[in-house]
Amino acid sequence: TGAVTYDPGFMNTANTKSAITYIDGNEGILRYRGYPIEQLAENSNFLEVSYLLIYGELPTPEQLAEFDATTRRHTLLHEDLKDFFSGFPRDAHPMPVLSSAVSALSTFYQDSLDPFDEEQVERSTWRLLAKLPTIAAYAYKKSIGQPMLYPDNNLDLAENFLRGCFGVPAEHYEVDPDVAKALDTLLILHADHEQNCSTSTVRLVGSAQANLFASVSAGINALFGPAHGGANEAVLKMLKEIQAEGISPEDFMNKVKNKEAGIRLMGFGHRVYKNYDPRARIVKGLADDLLVKLGGDDELFDIAQRLETVALEDDYFVERKLYPNVDFYTGLIYKAMGFPEKMFTVLFALGRLPGWIAQWREMMSDRTTKIGRPRQIYTGEALRDYPVK
Ligand code: CMC
Repeated sequence: TGAVTYDPGFMNTANTKSAITYIDGNEGILRYRGYPIEQLAENSNFLEVSYLLIYGELPTPEQLAEFDATTRRHTLLHEDLKDFFSGFPRDAHPMPVLSSAVSALSTFYQDSLDPFDEEQVERSTWRLLAKLPTIAAYAYKKSIGQPMLYPDNNLDLAENFLRGCFGVPAEHYEVDPDVAKALDTLLILHADHEQNCSTSTVRLVGSAQANLFASVSAGINALFGPAHGGANEAVLKMLKEIQAEGISPEDFMNKVKNKEAGIRLMGFGHRVYKNYDPRARIVKGLADDLLVKLGGDDELFDIAQRLETVALEDDYFVERKLYPNVDFYTGLIYKAMGFPEKMFTVLFALGRLPGWIAQWREMMSDRTTKIGRPRQIYTGEALRDYPVK
């Protein structure tokens, strides 16, 4: 099989060809299907971006209306699936609840598990897009002991999710259009990021011809890690610790630079971006606007901005080309919207879903795809005789 190349962490190994997302990490460029992220964030919406990622082109108004109606029709969960939520401990983190429920979809929709049947893949695509926000809202309601709300299909995805999280059956929930718009924009920013850890996981699992639900469930588990999607939760914890300990951002940065106890500046650095993450720039703008309107935590925002200012001028960060990534300011916005820290990575998962689906479908539709099977450099004992007693 020839020589094996050693490339831990896949620093230089492309595992696939893909026509979905383009990143130029040195220039700080991100495009979905050729469209700049800045233009999509400004003028599109999450549903349209989902369509673009999955089907490759922007939809016509008719196609978008049909896609919208189809996904809205699938928001309900099977009543038996609801029982799952009562089985988890009350203080369960919603990420494993999310991945478990998505994995369980394979048991409820046995009519759509063939990864090579286009109609079945379509059905599981709609079901996932429509049901993941419902699952996420149920996971949240379960954690705070409130009744779960059936979705209201008069609302769009972001609105429905906000109502599902913050509404109660006894009262009418009035969606704040600015909050819904900001959430929709954040979902767009997270929608795809080529071969990141969770997407590579989705592809690797799918390369074994596992169904879409199983593959996405694995991706959710990968995203849970603090070096990946879990970073948005970790950023807020870090900011709160700095606040609680009363240390200055400058002193905290000294700890980071001295690598004290392996402390990292969470929300900074990226494998591909060696420049300002273009998503972070947009998020920062959103934070500026929304935190004023919603009355966000000024002190934490201030700490974050001071950390950024120090980092952008400090040799340690400059030499290593460490800039804010998408997660640096998102947590402050989610907090201002009323989400607890545990929900932050769930919001990332809702956004990343169309990307996972698009990447899985791209791989499945290429019949030359091989099962993912990395090689290794063996470092163990050569040969030993088992001692016969
Ligand atoms: N704070 C302090 N030092 C850092 C940081 C950081 N956030 N990130 C990287 N470094 C240092 C690291 O110590 C190393 O220094 P040295 O050469 O002296 O050993 C150098 O920079 C290169 O880092 P690396 O870990 O080899 O780089 P990587 O490409 O393997 O890691 C990363 C990328 C995102 C995991 C890392 O930057 C990190 O841990 N950041 C904090 C967590 C975070 O914000 N993650 C979210 C990523 S963006 C959203 C997503 O895709 O999920």
